[in-house]
Amino acid sequence: ITLLSADRKKLTVCCGKGIWQDSVGFALSPQEGLSGRVLGTGKAYVGSSSDEGAKELLWTNLDKIGPLIMVPLQSENEPIGTLMIARSQAPDSRPFAPNEVKLLETIGDMAGSALRRQRLYEEALRRLRQTQALRNIDMAITGSFDLRVTYNTIFDEITRQLGIDAAAILFLDPHAMTLTYEDSRGFGTLNLSNLRLRIGEGYAGKACLEKRPVLIPDLKAVEPDPCQGAIFLAEGFRSYFAFPLMAKGRTLGVLEALRRDKFDADEEWLYFLETLAGQAAIAIDDATLFHNLERANVELIQSYDATIEGWAYALDLKDEATEGHSRRVADMAVELAMEMGVKGEALSHLKRGALLHDIGKMGIPDSILHKPGKLTEEEWEIMRKHPEYAFKMLSPIEYLRPALDIPYCHHEKWDGSGYPRGLKGKEIPLAARIFAVVDMYDALTSPRPYRKAWPEEEALQYIHQQSGKHFDPEVVEIFLKKFTQKLQHQ
Ligand code: C2E
Ligand code: SIN
Ligand code: FE
Repeated sequence: ITLLSADRKKLTVCCGKGIWQDSVGFALSPQEGLSGRVLGTGKAYVGSSSDEGAKELLWTNLDKIGPLIMVPLQSENEPIGTLMIARSQAPDSRPFAPNEVKLLETIGDMAGSALRRQRLYEEALRRLRQTQALRNIDMAITGSFDLRVTYNTIFDEITRQLGIDAAAILFLDPHAMTLTYEDSRGFGTLNLSNLRLRIGEGYAGKACLEKRPVLIPDLKAVEPDPCQGAIFLAEGFRSYFAFPLMAKGRTLGVLEALRRDKFDADEEWLYFLETLAGQAAIAIDDATLFHNLERANVELIQSYDATIEGWAYALDLKDEATEGHSRRVADMAVELAMEMGVKGEALSHLKRGALLHDIGKMGIPDSILHKPGKLTEEEWEIMRKHPEYAFKMLSPIEYLRPALDIPYCHHEKWDGSGYPRGLKGKEIPLAARIFAVVDMYDALTSPRPYRKAWPEEEALQYIHQQSGKHFDPEVVEIFLKKFTQKLQHQ
């Protein structure tokens, strides 16, 4: 029995009885010889070793056989192989009769169907395993942006599905134009971390430069590459396969797979390896994109916050407030807010709001802002507009809208007598209730053009006295408790 290989490139004697026992393993091209003819025509050959046609029989000694039949093994017109029987050359050896030919043809058809079914079944199983492998990698990619996890899954599946002994992922540094080993498995004592390949250098460098696979079924059969050839051979590797990692037209690196045997990969094997390389490339691209985005986002937030601190500093200068007033009240407000259970993003908004609490004073004329004495009724009217100015200035900025509570509401009072809206009790946002206490403390203990700084003790007393009137009693309680603790520590 001869059988065609899965890629139909080879016809191999896979089973032999009698004098053909030793022919097992003999391989030929499907176009060659008598088998090639029977395979090509799909018709039985009936004859004898002395016939002209039998001369095409390439893998047997014609001296020993007499009458012979070769029938195709096929299923639904798809050739699978051939089945041949022969009698000896003895003088009483009779030729095959037509009913015997018919019988062998029937057996050939039955065997052909059975073999085909078996092959389809095996193929379905292999496909299923490969689909599961791809699914596993998909899950690793979507489940985490940690590339190590993805690499591990890819290495696992390569080893399991393709019988690979070692695999590696190399990254391309597009600025330095070099490839370095990012992760690898199965290289034993070989230290690859210091190996740096220029594009075009080594097998991997060639795959990267030419954007196509480098496939070497036998490393001993080719001139060893100076960068990679000798070290792989020395480590006992025999075959080498590299696919460039490409995503959106860009080359990101190279996937290498090595075996310790000489290995003539078939199309399906290579296709699967190429698919894995594609998945690795997607994973790397996604993760890079994600990390860049994350970094850009952090940088953006940092630059916004630096801008806000710059504004706060400018406002302090203009207001002739004491040095660092805005920073100080912002830090105090955050501390007090944490004490009161404010968490997460709300703290960032609160801090930004505190830094910008008096931004509305930008709309107040300097003559009022810097007046050394008491304000007149008209001047007060203008001064009381500063929270509304803040609202108008900041509400169009989406990034700062959640930080508006303090600039807009820090002059509201617990008893409802504050401005601009006369909110009462818990109608006043918590951030503003917290900030009002802190701002008052810092304002009183700082000098103003119209008065001297108050002693700390008096400021605290005043805040205590305003609990439930100007201020939220809960906030005052925690503020004073914190303050006493701090004093005891000093
Ligand atoms: P500011 O100086 O930053 O004061 C913030 C808040 O701290 C004031 O809001 C008030 O609640 C409290 N505060 C500050 N200094 C004193 C004080 O000496 N006594 C008392 N009891 N509370 C004080 P307020 O009153 O709504 O004032 C808003 C802003 O108006 C002040 O900001 C300041 O820029 C200005 N301002 C207030 N009073 C006068 C004044 O008599 N003369 C001038 N030129 N400006 C004033
Ligand atoms: C943001 O991206 O949320 C801030 C930008 C803006 O709204 O001005
Ligand atoms: Fe204010």
